Amino acid sequence: MTNALRVALVDPNDQSRESLKQLLEMIGEICVEGDCSRYELFVSLVEQTQPDIAIINLDSDIEKSLLVIQQLNLEAPNISILVTSKTSDGQLILKVMRAGAEEYLTLPIHQDELSSALARLRRHRPMVESEQQQDCEIIALAGANGGVGTTSIAVNLGCCLAEKPQNSVAILDLDLALGDADVFLDLIPEYTLADVVQNVSRLDIDLLRKSMTKHQTGVFLLPRPVDLIEAEFISEESIKRVIDLMKESFTHLIIDVSKSYNELDKVAMEAANQVLLITQLDLPCLRNSVRMLMNFDESDAVKDKVDIVVNRTGFEAGQISLRKAKETLNREIYFQIPNDFRTMVDGRNNGVPLITQSPKAGITQAFRRLVDQLSQKVSESPMIAPVDEAEVRGWKRFWPGVHQ
Ligand SMILES: Nc1ncnc2c1ncn2[C@@H]1O[C@H](COP(=O)(O)OP(=O)(O)OP(=O)(O)O)[C@@H](O)[C@H]1O
Ligand SMILES: [Mg+2]
Repeated sequence: MTNALRVALVDPNDQSRESLKQLLEMIGEICVEGDCSRYELFVSLVEQTQPDIAIINLDSDIEKSLLVIQQLNLEAPNISILVTSKTSDGQLILKVMRAGAEEYLTLPIHQDELSSALARLRRHRPMVESEQQQDCEIIALAGANGGVGTTSIAVNLGCCLAEKPQNSVAILDLDLALGDADVFLDLIPEYTLADVVQNVSRLDIDLLRKSMTKHQTGVFLLPRPVDLIEAEFISEESIKRVIDLMKESFTHLIIDVSKSYNELDKVAMEAANQVLLITQLDLPCLRNSVRMLMNFDESDAVKDKVDIVVNRTGFEAGQISLRKAKETLNREIYFQIPNDFRTMVDGRNNGVPLITQSPKAGITQAFRRLVDQLSQKVSESPMIAPVDEAEVRGWKRFWPGVHQ
């Protein structure tokens, strides 16, 4: 059973514990690595058996169960948590999900329900090295203006990519001052990029994964630092190291590039397989897009990877036409995302991605098409260009903040 999903479970009630074990046996391709009747012992059981999924029945002691979920989430973030309970109280379910569970099933559970929940959890597991079959696709998202939709696209693209069973997806928020990818996903991360960078000398895949926060959709997030001052200690070398490690662990890395276009953003774009320049059909955006394309063209490590994504098409009658935009940019438009303010803003305010908030909406379908289009693109290995004086001058001209 090489492909078997490894499960450990805790339930003080012997009867319901045994019936869950029987149900798991009926599903097949499941290996119960351990079961336990005391909440206090479950975290060490999980540490010993290293299952893919931990199943926790809440009903004997809700408070103790919540503690176990929180502890597992901190100490074993790669292990997915499924909760079972007789209760279907919405407030409790919310508490459980916020504590770190990914699936909640109300008892009595039908075999089909359990089977589908396990299948969803299976596809959200990050890869272990032996499973890694494909290279990591790094997609950097660069906005042509503030508020153009870069983070909305980063987060929703990440969540749509994570829908595919073969993908494991990470989002890196490089908007060090004002990044808000965590808000879009309603996550309260324990660690940030600053913590990871602080430990960069002893950083490995395991520590990196433990420092990232996993969202219900399966996406892993590494958010921007909490304290503004912490951003100053993030070096180009440390960002390279973090990206290199993420490449080993995920099939897709989405980077929300900051709009200060500093040296860290440059590192991210150089490491990327594809840079999506997000713009809208208005004059300030198109003007900036032309400037950015000119500057990207000066970097051998970036120029051939840039594609234009037009966000909020159909936003208002006075928008510049797509034909005019193509002429101005002298480029094809790689992808268009329609305007849908209500759906987008509802999702953002609720901290819920489009695939959960409005799975059938046109804009959600657009993101799914974007995923398909990205996967069709033949990816080439990113090339880190040698630092050349002329090029540095070029980038710095564009990025006045880094003039020395
Ligand atoms: N396709 C869309 N249709 C309608 N509204 C959108 C669309 N994309 C983004 N928005 C809205 O635009 C606003 C700005 O989006 P977002 O925060 O993603 O932009 P940003 O480029 O990351 O901004 P910042 O410069 O602050 O980082 C949000 O209110 C978001 O809901
Ligand atoms: Mg943003």
